[in-house]
Amino acid sequence: MNSMEKVYGSGWAAWWRKHSIALQIGTTISCNIAYLTDAGRTRKAVTLSMILLGGVTLYCFFSRRRKINARDLIVITGCNSGLGYSLAMHCRAKGAMVLAGVREIPTAPNSNAVEALKNNGVIVHQVDITDEQSVRDFRHKVEELLEERRLVLRALVNNAGVMVFGEFEWQTQKLAEHQVNVNLLGTMRITRELMPILRENHSRIIVVSSHCANESLPGISIYGATKAALLAWTTSLRVEVGKYGVEVVSFIPAYIILAICVAASLQNTPYTRCDDGPPPQSLVVDGCNSSPCGLYRGTNLTAHWDFSPNADTLRLTVRVRVTMMGITIPYPYPYSNACESLTNGKCPLSKGDNVTYNLFMPISKEYPSVSMIIEYSLVNENNDSQVCFKLDCHVTDP
Ligand SMILES: NC(=O)c1ccc[n+]([C@@H]2O[C@H](COP(=O)([O-])OP(=O)(O)OC[C@H]3O[C@@H](n4cnc5c(N)ncnc54)[C@H](OP(=O)(O)O)[C@@H]3O)[C@@H](O)[C@H]2O)c1
Repeated sequence: MNSMEKVYGSGWAAWWRKHSIALQIGTTISCNIAYLTDAGRTRKAVTLSMILLGGVTLYCFFSRRRKINARDLIVITGCNSGLGYSLAMHCRAKGAMVLAGVREIPTAPNSNAVEALKNNGVIVHQVDITDEQSVRDFRHKVEELLEERRLVLRALVNNAGVMVFGEFEWQTQKLAEHQVNVNLLGTMRITRELMPILRENHSRIIVVSSHCANESLPGISIYGATKAALLAWTTSLRVEVGKYGVEVVSFIPAYIILAICVAASLQNTPYTRCDDGPPPQSLVVDGCNSSPCGLYRGTNLTAHWDFSPNADTLRLTVRVRVTMMGITIPYPYPYSNACESLTNGKCPLSKGDNVTYNLFMPISKEYPSVSMIIEYSLVNENNDSQVCFKLDCHVTDP
């Protein structure tokens, strides 16, 4: 832990470093204006002060945009994929020294992003931001680099993050805790660990946020909550560490990829109606937005549909029929009790209830590669279909 003296000492130094030039220019301007006004040249004084003020503004604007140089060390977490990987490569290409944190160093050589980073001169070190010891070891690595190579820590980029997609009710407490542990507590952990170095170097803390921090979306409520919490923390931290010359930036990456994923996953899957039984109110077959849906051998088909029974229903059974080459056969669906896979409602159901059924259908590796029409129907104890639709499918390899 740093002493208070060290903390505040570096704070004043940071303040002076930041404002000394502006202060000197300001004093010069004031003296000139005072002199010219005193000499009766008010017009000249006003013109001169305007020019100098413009000059100071431009100077301050451009001096803030300090260029990256070879003595700068940029530390980024979560670099073995996505944004972290690209950022590490970009900063390196700009000439900075980059320390890329990766959660796990893969053992297989030449087969991953880590090798590519190393080949481009990025220093790669393991860090799991949820693990106290791992974060401590990472800090030692930062200290070692700064000392050995006489570098300045320019920025810590808190990029590592996880997002588990799925409605709140479907996610276990463990999944929720995992997202909080990585996105929020993990980011806090590594920032706290590096704080003395960040203060000493007047570095910048960049926190990769998300548009979900401001406007969360269905399907990522927990992720959105972690990012909103992160944003609140970042806002307070910015004020707290500003006095030490440490800037805190909340960065929201373009959400196009996410938006596409969300839009795609929320889009209804096309189906055809059955002759008996009403159609679902909405149907989402995961990964399928257009017909035919791919059934990938060795994976599980998951889907959910909303429906309203048109009669009071005690028991609900899943009936699946498959039509191949003009022949229709019943399919022995293993989880036939539909009451066990309902959300928003429980058996017995009343006519007009709004319920959701969740399908989980293993696609065996042994299935032949064929096109088929699958009819899904939920029938009650009187064998009356309460919801029914047909799906065009094609069995294929993943
Ligand atoms: N992509 C988008 O559209 C988007 C939009 C808004 C915000 N963001 C944010 O941008 C950041 C990067 O996202 P991305 O799309 O590039 O995702 P990504 O490819 O999944 O990258 C996330 C990185 O975080 C790492 N990570 C996960 N848990 C970790 C832990 N406990 N310790 C250390 N590292 C850990 C992952 O490592 P492993 O692979 O080894 O687990 C991975 O390298 C995230 O904070 C995300 O929330 C992304």
